Amino acid sequence: KKVVLAYSGGLDTSIVIKWLIETYKTEVIAFCADLGQGEDLQAIKEKALITGASKAYIEDLRNEFVKDYIFPMLRANAVYEGTYLLGTSIARPLIAKKQIDIAIKENADAVAHGATGKGNDQVRFELTYYALKPDIKVISPWREWSFDSRQSLIEYAEKHGIPVPATKEKPYSTDRNIFHISYEGGILEDPWSEPPIDMYTMMVSPEKAPDKPLYIDIHYENGNPVGINGELVSPVDLFERLNKLAGDNGIGRIDIVENRYVGIKSRGVYETPAGTVLHIAHRALESITLDREALHIRDSFIPKYAELIYYGYWFSPEREMLQTAIDFIQKDVTGTVRLKLYKGNCIVVGRKSPKSLYHPELATFEAEKIYNQKDAEGFIKLNALRLKVKKLLGN
Ligand code: ARG
Ligand code: SIN
Repeated sequence: KKVVLAYSGGLDTSIVIKWLIETYKTEVIAFCADLGQGEDLQAIKEKALITGASKAYIEDLRNEFVKDYIFPMLRANAVYEGTYLLGTSIARPLIAKKQIDIAIKENADAVAHGATGKGNDQVRFELTYYALKPDIKVISPWREWSFDSRQSLIEYAEKHGIPVPATKEKPYSTDRNIFHISYEGGILEDPWSEPPIDMYTMMVSPEKAPDKPLYIDIHYENGNPVGINGELVSPVDLFERLNKLAGDNGIGRIDIVENRYVGIKSRGVYETPAGTVLHIAHRALESITLDREALHIRDSFIPKYAELIYYGYWFSPEREMLQTAIDFIQKDVTGTVRLKLYKGNCIVVGRKSPKSLYHPELATFEAEKIYNQKDAEGFIKLNALRLKVKKLLGN
């Protein structure tokens, strides 16, 4: 028997390795995806092997993550419940897909993950597993084992010689990748208490940001960001550079209470520096390049599209259907946006495009040939007709 485990290198998934071996008498293959979490992956690989994995795969998925997952999501302007840019949600389907690829290659009969039984992540992992390999067996240790406290987990680790980090554990849980870092649980569970200032990692607090604004230009082609300040950059480089520029200026922090798919409300704090800037820039470029009605219809899709990603339906016919419609209009989203980054604010100050639909002559009441002001009278009167009728009939 063989199981492919989504392994992070942390204490919890290390315990999962041992627990799987003991409980299922199975061989465990650890898989750790490099999504830009900035950890020592070689050390993680060694740790997996020391802890009992028969094999450990480490894959640098950063380029694929940005190009094939984050970019499509940004082309759609996806935001969940008006605020969350979906940094963890978008990573899960990619990790799960690679686990399935490895399971097929290794002829494994099962896959496992370290998400709890109370969250969204379990749903995202497992919906992806089943969508891509319907006959796969799924093991979810957190829903099965009998540990009922942090202490009992630590005792199990000590008993099995799994190194328990000497440093005191952080009083909240985090998930990091090139797009964001999330914080939830522990001391953050009280939605009235402000997070400690030393919690943040990707960015400075706005009050610590420079007193001078930073201007940047972002270049787009077909809805995708392709360069900064006149220079073409690869997707991963773009994120690394923008994370630094936006992070140094205190941009991209949110503190919310969100609705998990399983029905629980959860307080989450997020840092999404580059993602926030790109979200704002993309909209600014769309404002001059998209037709009004196409834009409005696309906007009506956003809550649904974001919900699909949040719930874990990346690999679904409905997500692909919406993506196709959304991408159809992105072919014109080409051009440059100029932004001013200043103390937590990302302010659009300029936009230009070879595909621009913006015509100053129309807006400034000239060119009577294309736009005749006299036409407006009939336009307004006919649109007012039903309003007049209603009033005239006395209701
Ligand atoms: N609440 C966010 C989401 O559902 C973040 C989840 C963080 N996951 C984690 N394992 N720490 O997307
Ligand atoms: C977890 O419960 O494993 C993390 C939080 C979530 O998935 O929503």
